[in-house]
Amino acid sequence: MRQHVNPLSKNFFEIDPIPPLNEVFENSKLPIHLDVGCASGDFLFELSLKNKNWNYVGIEIREKLVLNANVKMKSREYKNLYFFFGNANNIFEHSKNKSLINSITSISFNFPDPWFKKKHHKRRVIQPKLINFLANSMQKSSLIFIKTDVKELYDYMELTISESIKFKKLRNEDFRFNESFNPNKIKTNREKYVLLNQLKIYESIYVKI
Ligand SMILES: C[S@@+](CC[C@H](N)C(=O)[O-])C[C@H]1O[C@@H](n2cnc3c(N)ncnc32)[C@H](O)[C@@H]1O
Repeated sequence: MRQHVNPLSKNFFEIDPIPPLNEVFENSKLPIHLDVGCASGDFLFELSLKNKNWNYVGIEIREKLVLNANVKMKSREYKNLYFFFGNANNIFEHSKNKSLINSITSISFNFPDPWFKKKHHKRRVIQPKLINFLANSMQKSSLIFIKTDVKELYDYMELTISESIKFKKLRNEDFRFNESFNPNKIKTNREKYVLLNQLKIYESIYVKI
């Protein structure tokens, strides 16, 4: 399977609309967490089984991974989990997805692709246009989590988010993880690899003000 796809390719201009939330989740009133670039979905499968008081949505640009995750969805009843395929940068192109963003309690960008070369920076998932859309669509007090092992990417994401006056950075030490979408601090696959190799993790949390 391809490790990377070019998000700027015209294959990804269109994005699937998410169905109405009451058709997707057994209890659509529960808080919703969106994980961007969820890959195989292992992280969300684990979260959804552990935390029945949250709903989880994953978006992933590699379609095969979403198809596989949806096959796995049939293996048992996941009533609080939904995967969809597409480029997260185009999420706002569909009005139904705008209402999803309006309903989420938090969103995570876990170890997004670094796209190291300067000429490829425009392929990075966090872009000013996306942050501007989130700033105008997310509810007050909703949260953005970013996490990466690439310092340069972390600095870039920090700068891009902090340029929006609508997000304030929280001190990680003060954050009550037990009230968040991930109270048990479950690790993503990339995070497990990074920890195993004793690499440094850079992370921040922002609140919509
Ligand atoms: C390095 S992997 C990290 C996967 C997972 N979050 C983790 O921590 O293990 C980054 C993932 O983001 C996906 N991705 C990259 N750009 C994306 C975009 N614009 N929209 C949705 N997914 C994207 C990639 O296909 C890949 O699966």
